[in-house]
Amino acid sequence: MTQSIAIITGSTLGGAEYVADHLADVLESQNFQVQVENNASFADVAEQKLWLVVTSTHGAGEVPDNLLPFLAEVKNQDLTDVHFAVVGLGNSDYDLFCGAVDVVEQALTAQSAVQICPSLRIDVTQVDDHDQAAEDWLPMFLTKI
Ligand SMILES: Cc1cc2nc3c(=O)[nH]c(=O)nc-3n(C[C@H](O)[C@H](O)[C@H](O)COP(=O)(O)O)c2cc1C
Repeated sequence: MTQSIAIITGSTLGGAEYVADHLADVLESQNFQVQVENNASFADVAEQKLWLVVTSTHGAGEVPDNLLPFLAEVKNQDLTDVHFAVVGLGNSDYDLFCGAVDVVEQALTAQSAVQICPSLRIDVTQVDDHDQAAEDWLPMFLTKI
């Protein structure tokens, strides 16, 4: 049976969206059915039971603006059936490195979604190839689904 994954992005400058698109390509090459949402509303992904959130961090440890409406909507949902993981892009020069990853983890687990593996936090000051870093992490996610 073809498995379906929703990739939900949070991005201000586009970097996290590029990583999300790369992961979508890799997953599709492995016969997953992938839905990428760059301005997600809950309704867009309500039917999906496997979510991969790919988000950068902005402000002072904050979630990018395009992910905020989704997180606000999620606060009213029962996500018991949702399994998820998070890939973050951040800069370790900031006090709250990849703070958005923590925000997303807390927002989803608070609604009873199940985090299936440790999040990836890509430090853009240390890692040149963000796509490859995410691709290298992907098997950890896939073995848990
Ligand atoms: C104004 C600004 C604030 C940022 N704040 C943080 C932060 O608090 N924590 C962090 O880990 N990275 C922070 N970053 C780094 C971004 O998350 C990083 O550059 C990321 O690659 C941007 O991804 P995007 O292109 O998807 O927006 C900040 C970047 C900018 C420009």
